[in-house]
Amino acid sequence: MKRKVFLRNVGLGVAGLGLPASARPLSLPLSPLPESTDKSPLNEAYWSAVAAEFERPTGISINLENGYFSHSPRRVMQAHREAQERINRETSLFMRGEQETAIEEARKAFAAFQGIDPEQLAFTRNTTESLNIVIMGYPWKAGDEVVLGNQDYGSMVEAFEQVSRRHGVVLRYAQVPMHPKSAAETAESYLSLINEKTQMIHLTHLINLSGQIIDGESIAKMAKERNPRIFTVLDAAHSIAHHTQTLLEMPSCDAVGGSLHKWLCNPIGVGFLHLKPSAIPLLWPLMGDTGKPSDDIRRFEHQGTRPIHSLMSLSTAIDFHESIGSQAKKARLHYLKLCIMGSRKALGEHYQEPVHGRMIDLTRYAEIDWLCPWENPEQSGAIVTVAVKGLTPQQLAASLKKVGVFTVAIDHPVVKGVRITPHLSNTPADCLALNAALAELGRSASIRRRMFDD
Ligand SMILES: Cc1ncc(COP(=O)(O)O)c(C=O)c1O
Repeated sequence: MKRKVFLRNVGLGVAGLGLPASARPLSLPLSPLPESTDKSPLNEAYWSAVAAEFERPTGISINLENGYFSHSPRRVMQAHREAQERINRETSLFMRGEQETAIEEARKAFAAFQGIDPEQLAFTRNTTESLNIVIMGYPWKAGDEVVLGNQDYGSMVEAFEQVSRRHGVVLRYAQVPMHPKSAAETAESYLSLINEKTQMIHLTHLINLSGQIIDGESIAKMAKERNPRIFTVLDAAHSIAHHTQTLLEMPSCDAVGGSLHKWLCNPIGVGFLHLKPSAIPLLWPLMGDTGKPSDDIRRFEHQGTRPIHSLMSLSTAIDFHESIGSQAKKARLHYLKLCIMGSRKALGEHYQEPVHGRMIDLTRYAEIDWLCPWENPEQSGAIVTVAVKGLTPQQLAASLKKVGVFTVAIDHPVVKGVRITPHLSNTPADCLALNAALAELGRSASIRRRMFDD
């Protein structure tokens, strides 16, 4: 193993190198990361070794609600624990001496992972904080307009509503189609609202309500073509280590915010804000900072005392992700989603009679609706939302919980159903169990309906 990678794996990072050996944390040996050249979604030998990196959740038989946050692999938890113990042992000596090095190492590691300049990357606690920095910190004037989506995340909508009440900003909501015929149709739902007063466009890369992925970069690019002054913001809460696109591949977005406790599987408490150089002096920090130059990205990190160990586990989380690879992970998650939906046609070459023989094609059930463009891996990732006719989202989630499957009810004006999110820690058997449970609910919905119709 390369020395740098080994050091990351044992949770020391570069920040630990200056310590006397006695002060360094002791790592428990962990098995090597799973190695395989065959990472096809069907290679259960490989994927079960990956799943074994995670503790099986307790309190429910099958967890298919992995959209809130991702639990971390054991080795990431170990790096996190060791960093926390180290800080506790070294007390303020660490905070006054090594803290800054640890933050800068994490900044370099994440920037290298995403192919971006570390000087354009601020760490926050989560996406909510990242995007509030942008929304609250923009130099608004009364009458300015914002284009946002009708399925944007609630906290961002509230942030814009607050800005609207405070500064007299006008909000225009794009009606994002649930099953767009083309990417152009989705793009036009935003672009048609742009006019000379539009200052900002806010796009959600992966809509948490339904799982739909929109091509944020292309829409941001087209928005700038229509009005080059528009400040383009991307909510990328679910993007990193889920979608294969990196921050490098989002050059038309002036600001991108995300959470690293989601698909990158770092423990809870680290988010990022990637800003274009021109955006750094433009925005006011959320937490007052007058000490740093206006072009220093660190002016957005004035957070006070915070859990630095969550930044110190980041390079282990990146190593874990990279050992799998973005393409392989995305294909596996898409496959698990299709096992839940039961579409033999969509599984295509991945259909195998011994594994999927008893699977029921729920995409053909009249009583069941799938609320996003699920077939195309460019338009939906792991997440999919389902509705069963005659059941409220809460009733559907409760019925699934009764049979041991945890999901989450989505009761939003536009999307009503149960959100299902498989993860690397799930097996095809988990997904097929949900397929069978939904089939049963769909059948009884159909019986209920026939009784009602008769
Ligand atoms: C689309 C979207 N944006 C923002 C957030 C907020 O993320 P966090 O709670 O990590 O701030 C979420 C959380 O699920 C989300 O799904």
